[in-house]
Amino acid sequence: MKRMLSGIKPSGQLTLGNYIGALKNFVKYQDDYEMVVFIANLHCITVYQDPQELKKNLKDAVALYLAVGLDPEKSIIFLQSEVLQHAQLGFIMACNTYLGELNRMTQFKDKQAKNETNLSAGIYTYPTLMTADILMYDPDFVPVGEDQKQHVELCRDTAQRFNNKYGETFKIPEPLIPTVGARIMSLSNPTKKMSKSDHGDKGCIYLLDDLNVARKKVMSAVTDDLGKVNFDTVNQPGISNLLQIHSSLSHTPIKELVETFKDSGYGEFKKAVAQVVVDELTIIQERYKQIITSNIIEETLDNGAKKASYLASKKLNKVQRKIGIEIRKR
Ligand code: AMP
Ligand code: TRP
Repeated sequence: MKRMLSGIKPSGQLTLGNYIGALKNFVKYQDDYEMVVFIANLHCITVYQDPQELKKNLKDAVALYLAVGLDPEKSIIFLQSEVLQHAQLGFIMACNTYLGELNRMTQFKDKQAKNETNLSAGIYTYPTLMTADILMYDPDFVPVGEDQKQHVELCRDTAQRFNNKYGETFKIPEPLIPTVGARIMSLSNPTKKMSKSDHGDKGCIYLLDDLNVARKKVMSAVTDDLGKVNFDTVNQPGISNLLQIHSSLSHTPIKELVETFKDSGYGEFKKAVAQVVVDELTIIQERYKQIITSNIIEETLDNGAKKASYLASKKLNKVQRKIGIEIRKR
């Protein structure tokens, strides 16, 4: 069975964008792949997080992973910081990455361009930790959003270089970018990605939003004055985004939706989208409530960390022997 690995960095509450662009796909993949999914809590702290808020977001993220249908029997689910080998391999990977490569990373460059003050060294070496996260488990595929593709490419380059220098050690992973739903846009500004960093924004639906609030957010989504339900991301980005959301959740092709709503007003169309969203959130939130009060989270993380640590310690030993820092037989 081929292996797939991905991580999510819940430095805020998980959104409908995370669900459609990432989580929902992980659930689908777990029947055909050996899934390794983790919460990238070390990546979270590359930017300051309020500790209490972070704790809540991390716990909610695990609960939501499970609530949307990730099965700890089928997938390895763990917290990055509980597998200590990640940080160590991260340092080794940093020693095998050039400054020039990190300087080219757009995520970092964007932050620098915005003149954000006090950027941490951690945000700069972020891609080297991500490289370690991936190479540790020899995955065949790494499903990520468009914005993370450059990091996976850097990971591939690093792996190739390492293999050439020290002999075959890592599998070279392929990034996997979803086609439909890869970019769910903000409801209030459909030319911008729906993002959890839009605090309090009407444009972002959180998986744990009150159902009425979620419905209102869809109903007040920005559209256009063309008055026709059409899929045209250039001239009708708002309507196209709503079509994408409906299609991803209802599993109805966009073409079919356009046909169904071709004579409807925007109000009626939005009502239908809102209903699909609310139906999906209802199911997720019911499961979430059961999970958050049970001990499933503890059990899942214990088991996940155990399985991941086994694989990680084997890989780290191999790497350390290859590069010459390991002098004892273990
Ligand atoms: P992030 O929230 O940026 O850490 O992303 C975690 C995962 O969710 C990545 O695979 C992203 O591509 C995906 N994701 C985040 N926001 C969206 C969005 N608005 N549309 C589609 N996928 C998204
Ligand atoms: N950087 C990713 C994000 O922001 C999260 C992440 C960390 C990740 N390590 C990873 C994703 C390894 C895939 C593989 O979304």
